[in-house]
Amino acid sequence: MGRAFVYVILGGGVAAGYAALEFTKKGVSHGELCIISEEPVAPYERPALSKGFLLPEAPARLPAFHTCVGANEERLTPKWYKEHGIELILGTRVKSADVRRKTLLTAAGETISYKFLIIATGARALKLEEFGVSGSDAENVCYLRDLADATRLVDVMQTSTGGNAVVIGGGYVGMECAASLVINKINVSMVFPEAHCMGRLFTPKIASHYEEFYKSKGVNFVKGTVLSSFAFNPEGKVNFSLFCSVSGVYLKDGSYLPADLVVVGIGIRPNTSLFEGQLTLEKGGIKVNGRLQSSNSSVYAVGDVASFPVKIFGEIRRLEHVDAARKSARHAVSAILEPEKTPEFDYLPFFYSRVFSLSWQFYGDNVGEAVYFGDFSGTSFGAYWVNKGHLVGSFLEGGSKEEYEAIAKVTRLKPVIEDLSELERQGLGFVVAL
Ligand code: FDA
Ligand code: NAD
Repeated sequence: MGRAFVYVILGGGVAAGYAALEFTKKGVSHGELCIISEEPVAPYERPALSKGFLLPEAPARLPAFHTCVGANEERLTPKWYKEHGIELILGTRVKSADVRRKTLLTAAGETISYKFLIIATGARALKLEEFGVSGSDAENVCYLRDLADATRLVDVMQTSTGGNAVVIGGGYVGMECAASLVINKINVSMVFPEAHCMGRLFTPKIASHYEEFYKSKGVNFVKGTVLSSFAFNPEGKVNFSLFCSVSGVYLKDGSYLPADLVVVGIGIRPNTSLFEGQLTLEKGGIKVNGRLQSSNSSVYAVGDVASFPVKIFGEIRRLEHVDAARKSARHAVSAILEPEKTPEFDYLPFFYSRVFSLSWQFYGDNVGEAVYFGDFSGTSFGAYWVNKGHLVGSFLEGGSKEEYEAIAKVTRLKPVIEDLSELERQGLGFVVAL
């Protein structure tokens, strides 16, 4: 059995939702487009899962955060897809792909053929087992990638009020979940191998501000070590297994932390496996050109799974952030439907986070020398990164809408910086003045 579409989006996450909206804006006929997703729900704003979804009061729930509300656009409910003649094939995993024949085979045995394919398979959470630690399947060990994970985390949190949580990993998931756990009145210890949190982006000085803030909320940081094994509760609660829930974690430094709940956020791997050996890969993702087109001209890749040329830095990068997913998806649709009118994708990397009363934005690249400004003991401060005489990156905590727009605009211009101490003296005034 099989079906044929002109356009197929493989994956039903953030990028898929934004691509669908762009298809309808640019004009697509009923029955031409389908989205195939392993998830049982229509595309939604994944960032909500570590923020509003975890709140103890008035938590965000679908259908409130279907794409594309995150960019203040229309909310695409299942009804919207129906009205626009877009086939949503949900709860369906694609198990193999043949880019020469332009077909996908689903786990249910259906062959779906396409003229143009947009790969938007995102990424999966890395498991502790991949680092030699077993026990991830215990009922109170939680990962956070999709709605099912988030729903389980909420369930476990609700039975852990007043108890102890151990958060493994000091990146985005670790930091955002730790804040949510505190808000849910759970005692939190964060364990990560680096000397400070958010090692991929923050400098020690920036990290120290957030760590101090978290400490003031009661979070205990255990740095420079990793998990060596879990301790298990002997009595099986739900499963018949004796090892159904963990009671604590043993760390490589010899210490032990009791745990009613463990959250693991130790990074992701892009879902490229269907295309390995068929498409060119680079930096762990599917390599695409400035049109988001892969090494096969009928196949495009967007979002977390795509390694694309970041023109402003003259190199191929794979980004794991929602803004890149939204914009690359729109651009790919434009490149497919209006090839002549669509220029090369010219993207300025943008990352952000919001936890507690804190909120930061980052634009560009965090290479070169960091120049700090603002009041690090107050509510608004930031940093510029200057590399080879140019401002290439900007970070701002606690900024206004106008200030964030200003740092984005100036970072894109890559202005020449002759005097670092003058930049430091001007601080935020430097971008506001330009
Ligand atoms: P995404 O992961 O959204 O979607 C991939 C889809 O493909 C999924 O539906 C998956 O089931 C499906 N799929 C995969 N393989 C398949 C197969 N073989 N068959 C069928 N379907 C398949 N970023 C940011 O900038 N700010 C933020 O605050 C946050 N917050 C945040 C919180 C949490 C909890 C997570 C997990 C992530 C974030 N992010 C973020 C990152 C952001 O959500 C991420 O960059 C985008 O979701 C990427 O969008 P994609 O569409 O590429 O993948
Ligand atoms: P991450 O890459 O941000 O952080 C991974 C962390 O895992 C590292 O900081 C390190 O501390 C730790 N680590 C690595 N190996 C480890 C090991 N063996 N044992 C213990 N710790 C180890 O990844 P994440 O936090 O898992 O986030 C997953 C994805 O979700 C990322 O793509 C991220 O961009 C995305 N996300 C983004 C946001 C945001 O942009 N605000 C929020 C949530 C999630």
